[in-house]
Amino acid sequence: MQENIPLKELINLNGKGAIITGGAMGLGLAISRRLAEAGAKVLIADLNASEARNASAELNSLGYDTKFIECNVSREEDVKEMISDAAKIIGSIDILVNNAGIYPRKPLEEMTGKDFEQVISVNLMGTFLCSRYAIKEMIEKQQGGCIINIASIGAVHPSSTGMSAYDASKGGVLMLTKSMAQEVGSHGIRVNAIAPGVVKTRGVLSQTGASQDRTQLRELKSFISRIALGRMGDADDIARVVLFLASDLSCYVTGDLIVADGGYLVS
Ligand SMILES: NC(=O)c1ccc[n+]([C@@H]2O[C@H](COP(=O)([O-])OP(=O)(O)OC[C@H]3O[C@@H](n4cnc5c(N)ncnc54)[C@H](O)[C@@H]3O)[C@@H](O)[C@H]2O)c1
Repeated sequence: MQENIPLKELINLNGKGAIITGGAMGLGLAISRRLAEAGAKVLIADLNASEARNASAELNSLGYDTKFIECNVSREEDVKEMISDAAKIIGSIDILVNNAGIYPRKPLEEMTGKDFEQVISVNLMGTFLCSRYAIKEMIEKQQGGCIINIASIGAVHPSSTGMSAYDASKGGVLMLTKSMAQEVGSHGIRVNAIAPGVVKTRGVLSQTGASQDRTQLRELKSFISRIALGRMGDADDIARVVLFLASDLSCYVTGDLIVADGGYLVS
């Protein structure tokens, strides 16, 4: 362990390749921006190809080095192809951020097995598939690596009515994170998770926007009133934590969960 590395070097991601799933918007876009700013070559892997193209073009217009690829993280064939293409497009896979996720709301009595399965297949299976194929590349390259899973505070505390599939998927992501960390640590691969609270993204706003019912708005207001820091999160609040976990600032951190919720869980 070298102790005299300058701080600037510790967060320098020059020469690193990073895949951000669901990077076309919301948290994923903010994460893509911060990692690109730190010097990484970023590949945005998203189901929505046109949003991903726009996101990559926007970041490249700021002088960053990003590419995009269409991928449905819940489909094994898609993921296999994406990881194999990624190694060619960004040179190497040093960082994987499993951010793609969905959070449809449905009360238990209305939720079908298919509804439940869909959430699990994107949020949990998608995290597993991307990690499994990326880890194979990382082990072959023998240069270590870093995986960051975007979980949720729903992984450690139930969110609200209608979110049982989501909470179950994120609880699974948390334990998968710990399990993978102990399994691949000997290869120099670190695996960590982040639990965001409520963050203003298009996905969240579409659920809580004016067109939604009053109960949901009331729930949101009461949620915000319990946030110690007194505000909802911004996507960049989470992207900064990702940068910490992706960089050598956190070189001795693995199998861990960082809660970034403005103090909601402690209130
Ligand atoms: N926004 C929040 O308040 C919040 C809180 C806790 C956790 N999270 C987690 O953060 C992540 C991002 O959330 P967000 O609010 O930015 O979401 P968002 O809906 O704004 O964006 C999600 C992105 O993921 C992509 N995506 C969806 N399904 C996909 C699939 N099968 N394959 C590939 N890409 C797919 C979408 O096209 C979109 O670009 C999710 O995992 C979510 O559970 C968000």
